[in-house]
Amino acid sequence: AISRVTGRQILDSRGNPTVEVDVELTDGSIGRAAVPSGASTGANEAVELRDGDPRRFHGKGVSRAVAAVNGEIAAAVTGLDAEDQTLVDTTMVELDATKDKGRLGANAILGVSLAVVKAAASAHRLPLYRYVGGVGAQLLPVPMMNIVNGGAHADNPLDFQEFMIAPVGAGSFSEAVRMGSEVFHTLRRQLAAAGHSTNVGDEGGFAPTFGDADEALRFVVRAIEESGYRPGADITVCLDPASSEFFRDGAYVYAGEGRTRSVDEHIAYLLELAGRYPISSIEDPMAEDDFTGWRALTAQAGDRLQLVGDDVFCTDADRLQAGIDGGYANAILVKVNQIGTLTETLRTVDTARRAGYRVVLSHRSGETEDTTIADLAVATGCGQIKTGSLSRSDRTAKYNQLIRIEEELGASARYAGTSS
Ligand code: PGA
Ligand code: ZN
Repeated sequence: AISRVTGRQILDSRGNPTVEVDVELTDGSIGRAAVPSGASTGANEAVELRDGDPRRFHGKGVSRAVAAVNGEIAAAVTGLDAEDQTLVDTTMVELDATKDKGRLGANAILGVSLAVVKAAASAHRLPLYRYVGGVGAQLLPVPMMNIVNGGAHADNPLDFQEFMIAPVGAGSFSEAVRMGSEVFHTLRRQLAAAGHSTNVGDEGGFAPTFGDADEALRFVVRAIEESGYRPGADITVCLDPASSEFFRDGAYVYAGEGRTRSVDEHIAYLLELAGRYPISSIEDPMAEDDFTGWRALTAQAGDRLQLVGDDVFCTDADRLQAGIDGGYANAILVKVNQIGTLTETLRTVDTARRAGYRVVLSHRSGETEDTTIADLAVATGCGQIKTGSLSRSDRTAKYNQLIRIEEELGASARYAGTSS
């Protein structure tokens, strides 16, 4: 049973405060989890509670969320069986009693939820992926590695937020990491040779002053080729334009390019890029409230492109079901802090699976050294993970954990590859 719950304020990868929770069980087992934080957040995400006191951390302190962990939540979950994750999570959801978890804070609730499952895994002397996923948890995900950062994650004029590479042709996860790292360093060399900055953005990808997506894609494809890999066969390209960020009054405003595209022009542009480059997946191609756009794009390209809903679904099973019923997207990005508990996260993964939607486990642009999502990707066998570039320890920590998991699984480990 849960015997102690301790919350504290630590820093995330952007130097902003976030919540960390330790949970101790009566047998002495301990679980620790830290909560991530987004920059291009969906409008319907569970709410992270911030203090709003401008004199401390510019208003971004989380001392109220920490107080909720140490006070109300600790009182409610102490004594509960840590193996009954559903009960623990339901207890917190009911205690909060708001739809968006804004009273206690989704950051407070998620920290406890993840620390509890980690303590329970430790009590069973099992690695987290095995405790959550059972003996069948042997599938290593294809990483979508974000090697060029734009949008809300960088100070450059790039309208699109993320340009990623997915080493689908690797024979193993560790080989995928090697391929990604090689392309990353080749790209650095090419950028430097072209007189571009090689500084990195929030997710560890380069953030040069590219003028448009075309320029970024040209560099990425050239880096894949010069590293000795076949674009489209060994390594595909994935985009996250994060289109909600530049959708205004029914149109897509490309501020960096200095032009506006109508919904139809935006769709045509995305499909044109997908035709000219080896693009396998586009996340948030349409804005979170542009449902007609989502439907139109899915009808046109859903059979040949992975279309991943991030902001539009916010990891919420009901919102996902609306997309399944309404015919938009064919995959979902799953972020634990968008919904706020492990139980609800796994329910959303289940809903996606049953509908034949693909699942991509994801980090946030604000991360910590916590590697829970690496284990969850293997536990769910979802086949894909998005966790940033090949630099910054907040990103590589997840890759490193997956390397360890692959080693531990030994001969039984399988790499999702093209089947993802
Ligand atoms: P965020 O961005 O974590 O800043 O919301 C990630 C994404 O849009 O996928
Ligand atoms: Zn996204």
